[in-house]
Amino acid sequence: MDVIICRDDTEVGAYAAAKVAKVARAASQAGRNAVLGVATGSSPLATYTALAALAARGKVDLSQASAFALDEYVGLPAGHPQSYREVIRRTVVEPLGLRADRVHVPDGFAGDLERAAADYERAIREAGGVDVQILGVGSNGHIGFNEPTSSLSSRTRIKTLTEQTRRDNARFFGSLEQVPKHCLTQGLGTIMEARHCVLVASGAPKAAAIRAVVEGPITAMCPGSVLQLHQRATIIVDDAAAAELELAGYYRQLYADLPDWQRVELV
Ligand code: F6R
Repeated sequence: MDVIICRDDTEVGAYAAAKVAKVARAASQAGRNAVLGVATGSSPLATYTALAALAARGKVDLSQASAFALDEYVGLPAGHPQSYREVIRRTVVEPLGLRADRVHVPDGFAGDLERAAADYERAIREAGGVDVQILGVGSNGHIGFNEPTSSLSSRTRIKTLTEQTRRDNARFFGSLEQVPKHCLTQGLGTIMEARHCVLVASGAPKAAAIRAVVEGPITAMCPGSVLQLHQRATIIVDDAAAAELELAGYYRQLYADLPDWQRVELV
């Protein structure tokens, strides 16, 4: 696991975007269209802004890339402004210039949700798997909407959101009552199959979760801790989110001393 500590959220976004662009360019060089895994929420917004700037400057071309969202609320009709399909359209598809027909979001409005989950797994497989998965982390350690006690090998499925997650997300809805209680989410096993994972977090409210993800035991009580088993996981955080890391000094030193070829260079 690589840990990069940045001075603020903008720098977190710049490093994450540079990492995603590097993986996307490598896919193009190998003659493939990149497959991105995209998260919603506040954490990745700076990453999408920085990626859009890289695309505008011709440093990365995502026009042929496809993308898979991590999750979707159950029961929000098409076009609902807080459905993740809409959020992804506004914050990812348009700014990055992706083709809408290559961007996939689980169908949380399907009559048969189990089938929708199985279809989603199949679509990821048929696309050749995810090259780089962008992740945020919940204050309770969830990634995707894999809440504490999720199986570490789970696949895309229906989950019930915890009260804490619904409270955390009430800011997008106006009131807690309007936040759906269920979602479809990629499982931890699904996420772990991405070839690279990039988790971004900023601010003091994420400090405890980041400590648990990076330095805690691998446990279903902190689903993000499963990333310790991933061979190419990069955790990019600002100083405030890094505040509880016991080995913060080591991560800073280690990054300062990395050979050039191993660095995430800002493009
Ligand atoms: C969103 C998702 C969640 C969020 C997490 C953090 O697609 O899968 O895991 O990344 O809840 O949300 P923010 O970034 O809003 O704090």
